[in-house]
Amino acid sequence: MLEVRNLSKSFGGLAAVKSVDLDVPRGSITALIGPNGAGKTTSFAMIAGFIRPDAGSVRFNGQDVTGWRPDRIAAAGMVRTFQITQPFAGLSVMENIRVGAFLRTADPHAATAKAREIGSRLGLGPMLDRTAAALTVAGRKRLEVARALATDPTLLLLDEVMAGLNPSEVNDIVALILDVRAGGVTILLIEHIMQAVAALAERVYVLAEGALIATGTAQQIAADSRVIEAYLGHGAAARMASHA
Ligand SMILES: Nc1ncnc2c1ncn2[C@@H]1O[C@H](COP(=O)(O)OP(=O)(O)OP(=O)(O)O)[C@@H](O)[C@H]1O
Ligand SMILES: [Mg+2]
Repeated sequence: MLEVRNLSKSFGGLAAVKSVDLDVPRGSITALIGPNGAGKTTSFAMIAGFIRPDAGSVRFNGQDVTGWRPDRIAAAGMVRTFQITQPFAGLSVMENIRVGAFLRTADPHAATAKAREIGSRLGLGPMLDRTAAALTVAGRKRLEVARALATDPTLLLLDEVMAGLNPSEVNDIVALILDVRAGGVTILLIEHIMQAVAALAERVYVLAEGALIATGTAQQIAADSRVIEAYLGHGAAARMASHA
């Protein structure tokens, strides 16, 4: 469904993303992981049209969408969430979700009904008529997912929607993501919480310093010495093995 080839981006002298290839099969949950600054969010930004790649291509549903604007990509069915949630604090939770719904309809009544339905499904029911500024961290993450879902995506890119949540909130979001996938939405997610990655993703890609260093199941990459080194530093894999 999504085919990314040779995706690259530099900021000044910093090569943030280097020749990244990714495949997301329709109906799958695929994870993109890696240490801080690895280039995960930058990759999402290029895939979803927020940053123009220096090189490489993004194919979505067989169509080359490289260089398309974010709204055109969203209209084609691919939408991302933002790692730094920025709800419109002056709007209610419902009105924030409705911003997404307006991608598909100009009718305010239809958009409101859809925003309420999706908000309720995401556990935001009691908050719908409150200001978005009143949301907790977990609530803001849910709002971010709700706004994205309101655009009726077929491919949803989730950027660390579990960061800052407690374990029970993480379990709730894991269940929610499985539910969204069961509803026919393909998912690519960036996540640091490995327990959630293992519970969700059929396939995991690991980025470090802009380059893909490993791919496989969560079990396979957790046992990969390159991955251990990327997270824990040079020599870590050998040190862990000698203490095993
Ligand atoms: N607009 C920008 N201008 C300059 N440098 C940037 C810009 N955006 C990202 N970078 C740099 O590119 C690198 C990759 O950043 P990116 O946000 O993609 O990492 P990440 O893998 O999402 O990290 P994290 O896990 O901390 O969210 C970092 O070194 C970052 O400082
Ligand atoms: Mg990031």
